[in-house]
Order: sequence, then structure tokens, then C-alpha cells
Amino acid sequence: NWTMDSFVDKEIERIRKVVGENGSVVGAVSGGVDSTVAAVLMKRAIGDRFHAVLVDNGVMRMNECEQVKESLGSQLGINLRVVDAADLFLDRLATVTDPEKKRKIIGNTFIEVFEKEAHLIDEECQHKGVGKISFLLQGTLYPDVIESISFKGPSATIKSHHNVGGLLADMRLELVEPLRELFKDEVRALGTILGVPEDLVWRHPFPGPGIAIRVLGEVTREQVKIARHADYIYIEEIKKANLYRSISQAYAALLPVRSVGVMGDQRTYDQVIALRAVETTDFMTADWFAIPTPVLKRISNRILNEVEGVNRIVYDISSKPPATIEWE
Ligand code: XMP
Repeated sequence: NWTMDSFVDKEIERIRKVVGENGSVVGAVSGGVDSTVAAVLMKRAIGDRFHAVLVDNGVMRMNECEQVKESLGSQLGINLRVVDAADLFLDRLATVTDPEKKRKIIGNTFIEVFEKEAHLIDEECQHKGVGKISFLLQGTLYPDVIESISFKGPSATIKSHHNVGGLLADMRLELVEPLRELFKDEVRALGTILGVPEDLVWRHPFPGPGIAIRVLGEVTREQVKIARHADYIYIEEIKKANLYRSISQAYAALLPVRSVGVMGDQRTYDQVIALRAVETTDFMTADWFAIPTPVLKRISNRILNEVEGVNRIVYDISSKPPATIEWE
């Protein structure tokens, strides 16, 4: 694809010019396609002067942190550091049940942790005599640019998302946004050209507050473990059934409800997993996705057998509107 190839060359040139011979750049990565593609472009443009930071907030998907480390760090050779802040996030989330409060805590803690790490990297750079951090990488896409200029869309007003505005003011960082002219499908095409693993290119979007808004009610370590495990099995079976790409977003939510069940000759009083799968182009409206019954049976059997503490699985058949994609 010649247009994308020329985009890559031009963008790398532009980044080099903007950042200069000495400057260093810091950027958060999440394992999502946008931050990954942006990071790979930076790596191509300025090598190890780009510092990627993955904040482990304790509410990412199961094994995701290790996967990101492996694919971005080892495979793609990005200068990546992982900050394990899981305990800090989970301690702050203890007893919180309000979804907007969960978002604020996670957003603010993220900024705090990222900022601290950026300062550390900056000190190290100055100590080594390489250029200090003067830029912040953001994987902003064209639709985000439009949304922030022309109107405050539902994602900005109804549910708060995080940003790193504080970092800009404090460290006087300039923004680098290599994807700001691209749509999602173009970012995916770009990722493919840049050798980003398929698995990352097509990964379903994952909310910043992660599993914390998919564990309804209190986000304890035990609840996170149950939700993660169920979600992992669900996604694994969706992939095995070759449905992953047809579904725009799928996840398992853990409901704060107990229902009566039976195991052997014992009654159980365990929790409920809700399976969500939607098909959408813009995430503003979405249809619930009809996973074939045999696949649902396999998923249900596996979760009930393998995940301790769950005795009931329900399938969410609500479209957006009136339901949202997330349960919180
Ligand atoms: P809803 O639930 O509003 O979600 O239908 C629409 C899309 O936005 C994602 N989402 C979030 N993403 N931080 C994020 O980064 C959030 O707080 C958040 N809330 C919802 C959701 O996963 C879906 O893709």
C-alpha cells in the first residue's frame, strides 16, 4: 500500500525534525492498537530516545501486562518500562462502588504514577547526558481530534476518560501525535505494515478503568481475579470459534449478585458472570452480537467448571441504546 508507506516515511521524518537530535520522548502504552502503533513509529524515528511506560494498574486483562512486555519490549524492541502500581490502584479502589468515582480514582492515580515515572526517566536522561524529556507521545486519532474541537461527545461528558494534562503543564512537555490524521482502520493498516503482531492490531478496545468497571460493586482482588479469569476463557473461546474479528468488543462482567445453585448434594450461593458481545462501527450505537449456541455452551461449561465462585452465567442481549456497552 503505497499511501501508507509514504505516510510512514513522511511521519518519521516529521517526528525527527520536531523532536530534534537531542530531545527524548515519553509515552504511555496500554497494549491497545493506537498506543502500540504510535510507539512503533516513535521507535522507528528516534530509537531508544523514545521511552514507553506501561502502568500496571491491577485491572488489566489476565496476563496482559506480560503479553505487552513480550510483544512491545521483546518483539518490537521498544524501550519499555513497566511500573507495577497494582497495589496502589487496588488499595485506593477498596470499598468504592460508584462507577464515576472508580474512573476518577483510576484516572488520577494513572496520571500520578505516569508523571512520577516520567520525572525519573527525565532525571536518568539528564544524568546520562542525553537529551531531556521534552515531548509526550499521544496516540490521538482523527475522530478524537474532531470530537475535542467540535463538540463534547458522550464519551467526554457522560463518562470521564483520562488525560495527562497535568504532565504537560508541570514538565512543559509538547505533544507528539503521529496518528492525529488517521482513522482506526488506517491505524490498523499502518500497524500491519509496521510489523505489529496481528493479535495487537485487532485487539478489542479496552476501557482505561479496565476490569474495575466490569466488576460491578466493590473491586476487591478476589473479584478482579474471578472477572479476569472468566473474561480470559470467554475471549479464548471466541477466538477458537473464529468470531473475534466479527465482534467489535466482548468481555465478561462480574455481577454483585449471588444466586442459589447446587453442586453434588450441596447448595451453593455463588456469583453471576454476564457475557457481553457487541457489533458496532462507532461505539455510539451497538447491536448485541448473537454468538452461536454451541459456542455459548462451551464458554458456559468452561467458566462454570474452571472459575471458582461462579455458579451462573447470563448472556446480555441488549443493544445500545438504551444499554451502554459497559455495565458501569
Ligand atoms: P459505553 O459503555 O459508553 O462505551 O457504551 C463506549 C465505548 O467506550 C469505552 N469506555 C471507556 N473507555 N475509559 C475508556 O478509556 C472509560 O472510562 C470508558 N467507559 C467506556 C467502552 O469500552 C466502549 O468501547
